[in-house]
Amino acid sequence: MYICLCKGVTENDIEEAVASGQVQCMASLKRCLGVSTQCGGCESAAEETLSHCQAKTLSSTSRTSGVAIITPIVLRES
Ligand code: FES
Repeated sequence: MYICLCKGVTENDIEEAVASGQVQCMASLKRCLGVSTQCGGCESAAEETLSHCQAKTLSSTSRTSGVAIITPIVLRES
């Protein structure tokens, strides 16, 4: 799906840029892909897509890198 019609940027383009580490924020999204640099009408959709892609990449990375979220357990003697 196209996110930025002016620059022809799709959701997949943003996802790939985030996954590769090229894009970390809206400023880098604008700089790397040109999103929201012409008419600006795509800004909110771009921000939403960026957040979604970052969450997806983070989730994927933590699953494949062996990173585990550890919840502390408090044991009490009674
Ligand atoms: S739709 Fe993205 S700058 Fe116009």
